[in-house]
Amino acid sequence: MSPRTPVARIAATSRYLPERVLTNADLEDMVDTSDAWIRERTGIRERRIADDDTGAAAMGAQAACGALQKAGLSARDVDLLIVSTATPDRLLPTTSCAIQAMIGASRCFAYDLQAACTGFLYALTMAEGQIASGRAENVLIVSTEKMSTIVDWDDRATCILFGDGAGAAVVQPSTNGEGILSSYHSSDGSLAELITRPAGGAALALTPERLRRREHMLQMSGPAVFKAAVKAMAGASAKAMQAAGLEADDIDLLVPHQANARIIEATARYARVPMDRVFVNLHRYGNISSATIPVGLDEAVEQGRIGPGSHILMAAFGAGLTWGAMAMRW
Ligand SMILES: CC(C)(COP(=O)(O)OP(=O)(O)OC[C@H]1O[C@@H](n2cnc3c(N)ncnc32)[C@H](O)[C@@H]1OP(=O)(O)O)[C@@H](O)C(=O)NCCC(=O)NCCS
Repeated sequence: MSPRTPVARIAATSRYLPERVLTNADLEDMVDTSDAWIRERTGIRERRIADDDTGAAAMGAQAACGALQKAGLSARDVDLLIVSTATPDRLLPTTSCAIQAMIGASRCFAYDLQAACTGFLYALTMAEGQIASGRAENVLIVSTEKMSTIVDWDDRATCILFGDGAGAAVVQPSTNGEGILSSYHSSDGSLAELITRPAGGAALALTPERLRRREHMLQMSGPAVFKAAVKAMAGASAKAMQAAGLEADDIDLLVPHQANARIIEATARYARVPMDRVFVNLHRYGNISSATIPVGLDEAVEQGRIGPGSHILMAAFGAGLTWGAMAMRW
């Protein structure tokens, strides 16, 4: 982890959010909760929910096409397609291969990357490595999540938090010193039980009994995750800033993973970045897992909060546990 000349930059971003809005008031009719509790404890007001027949690949393909168009590329220009998702459409084959076929990216190799909510940052580092090695020039990252399919809609402690959506980014070689300045990633598998879907994989195959006990749904220890998230995102942010040779005053925009407004505020406080330089859209979308950062980048660019030369810091945290932060000159 040392200051480096950027080799890879984000050339374009895009996003797809389903039209259907699920408000806190709607949730009041579904579980024992209240709009006031959700807003006060999380900052979330509403989230988007995809139709039954719209899967992770379909949402991801929409975001992918938007990013390619903005980058002036056709799908056949893509050398590598990395899809981060915790909600693959099916376990085999990958969601990336489904998106590859949907958009016609026939020349690329495609794979899924599973790092839960940290997936976009892990994917960005993989893209940077492939560009640095000369194996790829046009890397398409798609982060797509249909969280509504893995959330237990009877569990008020989790169902209020998540939403569906997708973000995409085209990553290309740096040309004028813009791009990734530093990255810091980590994971700790000993804390896997804090956020997990225990059943449905090779270890605990689905049985009627496990389905009845909803062991295939997301389970989470909220307060423990909260503390771990703040510690991890604050620590990673400090390391990424230090490695990039940036001080808090140099950061034009912090684009954090959007899980909880209080986690975002604590991360910003530790990083000493004031909230007017922190991007927040959590109130509109909830936690879209690995899609939060690319969706946030895309909205921030659209709103003029990120432009050429901007120094941005991204930080994320998720199941695994996984976490990381990256500094970038836009
Ligand atoms: C989940 C989370 C919002 C809960 O907030 P919290 O302040 O920690 O609340 P607690 O879990 O301590 O619960 C406090 C009380 O509120 C209740 N509660 C939980 N969910 C509720 C809801 N949706 N509506 C109303 N009350 C709720 C609890 O049952 C508990 O009641 P009790 O005191 O009578 O036992 C918070 O812990 C969190 O955001 N954690 C991180 C989760 C996360 O980001 N996960 C994804 C990581 S990528």
